[in-house]
Amino acid sequence: MKMLPRIWRWLLEERMLLLLAVISTTVVFGAIYIVLDRGLRRWTDRDLGRKAALVWSALALDVRQDTPEELEEKFEALAGADRLIGVLACWGDGRTVSNAQLPPQMSCSSPLARAAVAAEGNAIIARLGGRDVHTTAHRIEGSSAGQWVVIVQDRSFVSSRRGRVVRVIVIAAYLSLLALILLGKLGIRVGRARFDQAARDLLSHIREGQIPAELPSDLQPLATDVTDTLARFRARTAIDGDSTGPARLRRLVATELAGNPLVVVANREPYLHEFGANGEVRVVQPASGLVSGVEPVLRACGGTWIGHGGGSADRETADASGRLAVPPDHPEYVLRRVFLSDEEYDGYYFGFSNEGLWPLCHIAHTRPVFRPGDWDSYQSANRRFAQATVEEGGSQAFVLVQDYHYAVLPRYVRELAPEAVVSLFWHIPWPNSEVIGICPWKEALLDGMLGADVLGFHTRYHCLNFLETARRYLECRVDLDAMAVEYNRHRTLVRPYPISIEWPYPAAPRHAGTALRASLGIDPERHVAVGVDRSDYTKGLVERVEAVERMLELYPDAVGRFIYVQLAAPSRTRIKRYRDVISDLEETVLRVNRRFGGPGYKPVVLQLRSFSPDEVRAYYAMADSAIVTPLHDGMNLVAKEYVASCSDGDGALVLSTFAGAAKELEGALIVNPYDPDSMARAIYSAMEMPRTERRERMEMMRSQIAKNSIYDWSRKLLHDMAEVSKRRDRLWTEHVDEAEKIRLEAAARW
Ligand code: G6P
Repeated sequence: MKMLPRIWRWLLEERMLLLLAVISTTVVFGAIYIVLDRGLRRWTDRDLGRKAALVWSALALDVRQDTPEELEEKFEALAGADRLIGVLACWGDGRTVSNAQLPPQMSCSSPLARAAVAAEGNAIIARLGGRDVHTTAHRIEGSSAGQWVVIVQDRSFVSSRRGRVVRVIVIAAYLSLLALILLGKLGIRVGRARFDQAARDLLSHIREGQIPAELPSDLQPLATDVTDTLARFRARTAIDGDSTGPARLRRLVATELAGNPLVVVANREPYLHEFGANGEVRVVQPASGLVSGVEPVLRACGGTWIGHGGGSADRETADASGRLAVPPDHPEYVLRRVFLSDEEYDGYYFGFSNEGLWPLCHIAHTRPVFRPGDWDSYQSANRRFAQATVEEGGSQAFVLVQDYHYAVLPRYVRELAPEAVVSLFWHIPWPNSEVIGICPWKEALLDGMLGADVLGFHTRYHCLNFLETARRYLECRVDLDAMAVEYNRHRTLVRPYPISIEWPYPAAPRHAGTALRASLGIDPERHVAVGVDRSDYTKGLVERVEAVERMLELYPDAVGRFIYVQLAAPSRTRIKRYRDVISDLEETVLRVNRRFGGPGYKPVVLQLRSFSPDEVRAYYAMADSAIVTPLHDGMNLVAKEYVASCSDGDGALVLSTFAGAAKELEGALIVNPYDPDSMARAIYSAMEMPRTERRERMEMMRSQIAKNSIYDWSRKLLHDMAEVSKRRDRLWTEHVDEAEKIRLEAAARW
């Protein structure tokens, strides 16, 4: 199938056309030559025939009267003149007279003479003495049979004349072919110039919004195409003339949400206010993939973020209702803080969310803990946030609930505001139904989640796990084709929405990385791999440093050339398991540095503190590669941020197969974080990879992120929510119409 257009293209190529022109010219002029040659021969033979007749009429009397000597003299005199080779007179008694120019083999008994006699006046064309000859025999009148005069004329001039004709024809043919080509080229040039001019005129008219009536006819289809495309383009960019991610998202919010408020509910607030040691207040941006993913959405289209007021100066920096405009230096949306008592927060956040649901959903082999008191706090905190949601968004809001902290909130919002459109996005994995069976309150948890209209996970696999869980533990109808659950006369769509980051990404310039490298005292020649994580047991931090250790064991040439910089933001440290991660990590780093380090060289640099997004971006800019190897992760936005930071298209990524990002970033070196040898090989490959391969892999990953940025994530989610809202309106209208019909029918019956 693919061959056909290629053949056509080849056929239409100029060289092929030239070949065709040469062939057709040769055929045409060849035919002309054949016709001319035949005509020439016929004409020459007729001419020679006439001349032979003249000679014979001049000799006819003499042949009868003259003596042989006189005849011979006359024959001699005639020979040589005007292509006459000779004359041969044959008498029946054996006498013969001829002239000396006739070749000796031409006698009265020679085959040629006999053939001429047999032809009786018609010419015989034959070879004689190396020449083409025209031979005719004439009967001597009044003599008995067998008395003839044979006239032989030279006919060779026909061949040389033919040679001349051929030369003339070949020259004429190829001159006319050349002229044809030149004229053709000239014609094409002139035509193209006219077309270009017409197209330019057309474009300038279109730019002014008009198609002129007197367009050349061959431009007409083009004109229609161009105006159609332009019209579609204008329609798409009509609102703000911008087709970037944020602008397209703003347009969708403006059109599909029909002016209804947008509310995000997430435990972690995007900006915390903390008191410093001297009582000064500083703004802190938390280390949270959720925040870095979702915050650009509100910055793009405004709305309200409802979060837990967890900063020590949070109350003092908000108004009486807990509201403030953020980002603090250039406000774009509202942050509403909800304050919980310490006891409630402990049970809801540390207890049920992070000791129960977090280890339950991650396959990292940490035992989940479920305490009834934590479950109570979880429900009451969810009620508090639901109340705040309705206060901020009213009854018609589009509510984007985030993560496992708020599994039951959709149900509570629905109770308070039945018309609100609610989605719940689960940022962490959803395990199989058997694992969920561990949770003592799984039915209530699922019931709460199915209060949402749209339920989102990062991957289809997690959606299918959820559908199976719902089918297993609830009285509901699971529609696998539509990916939906019908439960309690409510329908919830369950869909994958792989989260992403903003694009274009505000990457730090490479020189920021160079400056950072210098400030850390790292030699510019050394390969720096970077890891950026919260200190969480699901992130596989200890396993990662052990893999670096294994790499240095397996590849001694890397010692002194390779440095791994790990940023680890302390997280959830009230929970013992998290404190253990930090001490295990510190111990492992110490061991590796002791084994492989030396004066001025530490193979692993551990930075245990929180970093602002700007600082993190400088580390990305410094890195030659990144190692992102969680034991289990919903998506992992660090992987995407690192790739987006490589704006010069250079860098390598080692990525765990158990991170959702591995499904999208095919250019990464995918590893199993439980296999130290394969990790070691991948880390070494990232260091030694040829530049072209690095760039090709990076290009693949960057184009993937460009195709699915955070704006695409939120557009798809909001679009599905808007569809739910439209469907609901339709059902409501049908319901009202039905009620009206019944009323009219009843009235008619009366
Ligand atoms: C994960 C969760 C987020 C959370 C983040 C940071 O990415 O999915 O919901 O915000 O970790 O955890 P933290 O407990 O500090 O908010």
